[in-house]
Amino acid sequence: MSTFARKVIGWQKREGRHDLPWQNTRDPYRIWLSEVMLQQTRVSAVVPYYEKFLDRFPDIATLAAAPLDDVMPFWAGLGYYARARNLHRGAQQIMATHGGIFPQEFDAIHALSGIGRSTAAAISAFAFGGKCAILDGNVRRVIARHFCVKGDVRSKQIQDELWQIAEALLPRSGIESYTQGMMDLGATVCRRSQPACLLCPVRKTCIALEQGLVEELPGKSERREIPHRQTRMLVIISSREVLLEKRPPTGIWGSLWSLPELPIGADISKTLHLRFRLTGRVVREMVRVDHGFTHFSLAIFPVEIAVAKLPSRAMEPGLIWVDLDDATAAAIPAPVKRILAAAKSAQATKR
Ligand code: ADE
Repeated sequence: MSTFARKVIGWQKREGRHDLPWQNTRDPYRIWLSEVMLQQTRVSAVVPYYEKFLDRFPDIATLAAAPLDDVMPFWAGLGYYARARNLHRGAQQIMATHGGIFPQEFDAIHALSGIGRSTAAAISAFAFGGKCAILDGNVRRVIARHFCVKGDVRSKQIQDELWQIAEALLPRSGIESYTQGMMDLGATVCRRSQPACLLCPVRKTCIALEQGLVEELPGKSERREIPHRQTRMLVIISSREVLLEKRPPTGIWGSLWSLPELPIGADISKTLHLRFRLTGRVVREMVRVDHGFTHFSLAIFPVEIAVAKLPSRAMEPGLIWVDLDDATAAAIPAPVKRILAAAKSAQATKR
C-alpha cells in the first residue's frame, strides 16, 4: 500500500470523524441519501435534513411510492433542488430495474439518476467496500496540493490528471477509512483558507507545502463574471393568508412553491388583475433579499399587497392560499421563506 494511503487511513482512525449520522451503517440507501445531501452542502446543514428525511422515507420503496410533492418539502431550504428530484427518480429506477434492491456494481450505481462518478465511488466504498476513487471538491484540493498539480482544476486535462492520481493512490484494503479520511482531511485540515498543515498526516511529502504554494493551489479558473438578476415578488395577503404559486418543474426552484414573480418594471395592478383576477392595493415595499445561485445572483424586491376577502376561492391549479403560519413549513426555497417570515412579523405587529 502506498505510504500516502497508509498515513491517511491511520489518521482517519485516530483523528477523523466517526459519529456522523450516516456512518456506522452499510445501508446503501442511507449512504446514498447522505452523499447526495452532502454534495455542495456542509455537514452541519445536512444533519437535521438527513434525519427528518429518513423518518418520513425510511427506505427506497417508501421514497419511490411517494409523490414528488411530498418529497420536496423535506428538501426545502437545502438548495440545489434537482438533487431531490433525481433522488426520487433514482428510487423509482431501483424499483423498476433492480427489484427494489440497491445495485452493488459501480456502473449500475453510476447509471442512477443524479449520481456522478465521485458519488458512485463513495457509495460503493461505504456500502460495499468497492475500491473506487472519489474526487469531490475537498479531495481535489488535497491531491492538487500534495502532488502540486497546477492549472485550472475544472479543465478536462487537469481533471483527468487528478483522477489518475486518485486511482493510483487507492489502498488494497481499508477503502472505507481511506475514503472517509480523504474527505475528512479536505474538510478539516487541508481547508481552502487557513489550512492546518501542522496537523496533516501527509505533510512530509506535500509538494505544495515544501514549495510554499499551499495557498495558491488548487488553481482557479478565470473568474467568470456572474450575471446579476432582479425580480419582483408579490406578497399578496388576504386576511392572514398568502398566495403561493408553484414553479415549473425545470429551472431554479423547480416544482417548489414560491411567491408570484414579475419583472421589476411591470405594472402590479394589471398583473394582479390579469393573472390572478384580483384587485388589491400595494401596502409597502419590503426589504430586498439577495440570493446567490451557482450561475447568477438574484436580488428580490418584494412588495406586500392587500386584497379584500375573496368571494370565491376557486383557483387555477398551481396557485394556493396558505395561512402565513403554515407557509414556512411548505416546500418553499429559503429566501422566499425569509420574505414570508418578514410579512408574518409585520402582520403580527399590525394586530
Ligand atoms: N462529504 C461528502 N461525503 C461525506 C461523508 N461521507 N462524510 C462527511 N462529509 C462528506
